[in-house]
Amino acid sequence: MDQSENKRFFPVSRPSLAGNELNYVTEAVRTGWISSLGKYVSRLEDEFAEYCGAEHGIAVSNGTVSLHLILAASGIGQGDEVIVPDLTFIACANAVLMAGATPVFCDIDPVTLTIDPNSAEACVTTRTKAIMPVHLYGHPAAMDEIMAVAAKYGLLVIEDAAEAHGANLDGRRVGGLGHCASFSFYANKNMTTGEGGIITTNNASLAARCRKLRDHAMAPERRYWHEEPGFNYRMTNLQAALGCAQFEQLEGFLKARRELFTGYSRRLSGMQGISLNRTRPNADNAFWMVCMEIEGISRDERDKLIERLKADGVDTRPYFYPMSMMPYLDEADTPVSHDVSARGLNLPSAADYTDDDLHYICEVITRHLKEGW
Ligand SMILES: Cc1ncc(COP(=O)(O)O)c(C=O)c1O
Repeated sequence: MDQSENKRFFPVSRPSLAGNELNYVTEAVRTGWISSLGKYVSRLEDEFAEYCGAEHGIAVSNGTVSLHLILAASGIGQGDEVIVPDLTFIACANAVLMAGATPVFCDIDPVTLTIDPNSAEACVTTRTKAIMPVHLYGHPAAMDEIMAVAAKYGLLVIEDAAEAHGANLDGRRVGGLGHCASFSFYANKNMTTGEGGIITTNNASLAARCRKLRDHAMAPERRYWHEEPGFNYRMTNLQAALGCAQFEQLEGFLKARRELFTGYSRRLSGMQGISLNRTRPNADNAFWMVCMEIEGISRDERDKLIERLKADGVDTRPYFYPMSMMPYLDEADTPVSHDVSARGLNLPSAADYTDDDLHYICEVITRHLKEGW
């Protein structure tokens, strides 16, 4: 198809904002509660934490500072190591560096793309303080195995659930499986507050410490008294208003994502050399991103394919690079992360794509795959 004739364009992601978003945000504006005080912040914290099976929710300004806040509140810093799967968004490593600690990269399971518990255990040293399993692209990590490794060495487990709101493992929701968890509400996530994040935990003292450090470590009993430095990591009531409206629709968004994946699977999984998201039998995938891996393709060829798909209106994105490839981070022996990173791409994954949209998208993908690269 000639590009000039092509009026259709399918971004890899876009938010659905057709619920109570405008009503709630308007109300926040009308009543003047536009900073971090206001009813929507506590409502979002309570509702989201309960949804995850956690007692405490601490809303913050994004899903990077939520990771940093957990580390800082847990006293993890200089001289400490945190084990992180190599294939994830760079925020994971950056949050560890922000805390003054060292990220140590382990490999992933080639089936689920989440942390490989054996590889994680092999990275434990006397300096290790925490493990950060990431529920990558919506698939829950092997939490029972990770919790067992953590118990053996006395480590904290921080779930990075930024990409997996609503995912389940054996019927238990992510966000309540580790000692604490971090979510992102960035606009491309399963639910959004524009920018934003939340920490969930059942640990009351960790929750209290996160709340305090979120607000410049102000003494809870004495206003404007600070015995240590803290941060301004607060979420605004405006953002939380958006989040409350999104939360009302979360189950619908998740259902739509499951159906989207089924539609892709029906149309693409018969193709030779192609594989889509693989979900473990005990897991409920939140399908944040539809994943496609191509056998035998190089990183360059994959990137050129991405350009050609985009020219035909199908926006995709490459899998993350292994973080250990970044020039400012330590190299790691993580062959699985390197292999899938080069061969994988995420397909248009918005919850509101129709069957007709999917028909077009898959027709373009199939045509380009048949042409080869
Ligand atoms: C796995 C993972 N962790 C952390 C983050 C950081 O979240 P934010 O962009 O809200 O800072 C993201 C965000 O995209 C992510 O995908």
